[in-house]
Amino acid sequence: MTEPRTVRPSMADLARRAARLTVSAGIRTTAAPLRALARVGREESDPRWARATWLWQPGWGRGTHDRLYRRPDPYGIGLNPYEQQKYGTVMDALAGRRFSRTLEVGCGEGDLSVRLAGHTDALLGVDICTAAVERAATRVPSGTFVRRTLPREMPDGTFDLIVCTDVLYYWEPVTLRVGISALLDRLRPGGTLLAYHYRGDFGQAGTADRVHDGLRAAAVARGHDVRVHEHRNGVGPGGAGARFDVIVAPVPAAGEQIRGVPAPRRPEIDSPARSRHF
Ligand SMILES: C[S@@+](CC[C@H](N)C(=O)[O-])C[C@H]1O[C@@H](n2cnc3c(N)ncnc32)[C@H](O)[C@@H]1O
Repeated sequence: MTEPRTVRPSMADLARRAARLTVSAGIRTTAAPLRALARVGREESDPRWARATWLWQPGWGRGTHDRLYRRPDPYGIGLNPYEQQKYGTVMDALAGRRFSRTLEVGCGEGDLSVRLAGHTDALLGVDICTAAVERAATRVPSGTFVRRTLPREMPDGTFDLIVCTDVLYYWEPVTLRVGISALLDRLRPGGTLLAYHYRGDFGQAGTADRVHDGLRAAAVARGHDVRVHEHRNGVGPGGAGARFDVIVAPVPAAGEQIRGVPAPRRPEIDSPARSRHF
């Protein structure tokens, strides 16, 4: 989110972008065969891979985010206009509604959590980075914040609100498919999943289009209601735009079977930043 916001980039901007995309393409090209090798005889959920998240999230795994968050506000969220309109869009969609248990995926330092906290009885923010969740916990004392790498370390239980803003495009295609399914599994009947992603390419493993196309297809296949499905043109760095979807899980008719929530694939590997039971 730190790219210049001019519509016509300078030669220096273009050169920097080309260099960044070349490095990122190199990392992705290296990660793909290594990931294939790593799968031989090993499960992605094996705790021995906990530090190797770059394999499944090329260029933007746990190590990268730990380095980024050595300083506060690494994404320059602050008063950034793109971020503020994103939070405005999300909060407008939630206006007047209250939830009992909310999951915020990739909560960062809690810029959106601060706003979500007023709409929910219990807020669980998860982020790949320890420093980020510690800062979020300080800003939002009513919430619970834990370090997790999703989708491998999906929290237990179900939620009536799941919020994913500018996070799912870090997942490469297989992780994205598994992750979308795991998130939809955790949506309670009648629950809302809200996703908002910047459409620009800044070296992440995936794109907003892949995220939102995949999300919508998976939701429709489950009979979920896609209430909002929007392209927001012109917003964000370089005017690249954003995608916004609001998905609502159906409430089964009386006597109809509710889809089961799978058990977590493995025990937790990290202790929570705040130990309060969520
Ligand atoms: C661009 S920031 C967005 C923060 C926040 N969602 C917002 O919109 O203000 C992306 C956040 O996702 C976190 N993240 C990236 N990959 C993740 C993963 N696999 N699991 C959990 N968090 C992740 C990063 O550490 C970072 O805090």
